[in-house]
Amino acid sequence: MTELREGLTTAGKVRARRSVLPMPSLDFTPEVARATAHVYERVKDVVPAIEWPVHAPYVKAINDLKTVRNAVILAHNYQTPLIYHGVADFVGDSLALAREAAKTEASVIVQAGVHFMAETSKLLSPDKTVLIPDLQAGCSLAESITGADVRLLRQRYPGVPIVTYVNTSAEVKAESDITCTSANALEVVESFGVDRVLLIPDEYLAKNVAARTKVKILAWKGHCEVHERFTAAELLAFKEAHPGLEIIAHPECPPEVIAIADFTGSTAGMIEHVKDRRPAKALLMTECSMAANIQAEVPGVRFVGPCNLCPHMQRITLPKILNSLLTLTEEVTIDPAVAARARQAVERMVNLRQ
Ligand code: 13P
Ligand code: SF4
Repeated sequence: MTELREGLTTAGKVRARRSVLPMPSLDFTPEVARATAHVYERVKDVVPAIEWPVHAPYVKAINDLKTVRNAVILAHNYQTPLIYHGVADFVGDSLALAREAAKTEASVIVQAGVHFMAETSKLLSPDKTVLIPDLQAGCSLAESITGADVRLLRQRYPGVPIVTYVNTSAEVKAESDITCTSANALEVVESFGVDRVLLIPDEYLAKNVAARTKVKILAWKGHCEVHERFTAAELLAFKEAHPGLEIIAHPECPPEVIAIADFTGSTAGMIEHVKDRRPAKALLMTECSMAANIQAEVPGVRFVGPCNLCPHMQRITLPKILNSLLTLTEEVTIDPAVAARARQAVERMVNLRQ
């Protein structure tokens, strides 16, 4: 594979060249085995040895192509262990991924995550080529509300600030005063210094923030299809079966689940909590891949169920990432008029506190 880096122009602008590159060999050669041995070390507890010869050539080909395309892969914490450990340049929660997108010097960003995350990257890096390996990777929260809905809310609640969860389309962000993520929702809500704020569209995130602030929160009826399925009853059954169990929940879970949890935080906050506390047994009330991704880093911790898979996150695979880098598709574009307003809302959040 050539060491040539594409894309840097004399003007300093970063642009990816449009050429489609040929499919590399996907044979499991001794060279591939050597080049990927360190990755297998990290995923060996969750990827059977018999499967590794299938995945390793993709890992090697993708990592080679990143150099050729001057590309970075920004991966969400819910991506599969093969992506998280094998090809990602940066892993994190939505807030960390947005911050990384704003500062990367690569020409191409491949978003290993869902569509709203890729749109956020494009908003913060408008001159870069932002690719999503599967355009169908959506989000039930993003689909629960439209820009027209937010305009109606603005009419109905004049003067009330509108805080929009980052899990929304650019069109919805464009109608908002500021965005927030699960990591900073409380801080964003309180940043206005007013007594009423709309926090949309995740009803449970809104309720969970409302329980921690004096600000009156007005909510929308959107839900995450993964987190809404967790119940207090199943949680209590696990607690009884596993004395000393540390329960760690994402704030998209229903309030009755959060009330029982020992800790609530963004996906990055949940990971940090496990690493700090090192409980003997932990239950992550979130997407299944998280526990698999961090198991190797916390060998003394035993993760117990339940967990739910996000079908949208699972659409992103190594073959699709490889195809993205070869063909520079699917490129994320945003109507410039929408982008200008949506960017303001995201930048206000990113600049709130570094
Ligand atoms: P985080 O920002 O906490 O990573 O959450 C994103 C998400 O989609 C959770 O379902
Ligand atoms: Fe959306 Fe829920 Fe999937 Fe996160 S886990 S991307 S909120 S559907």
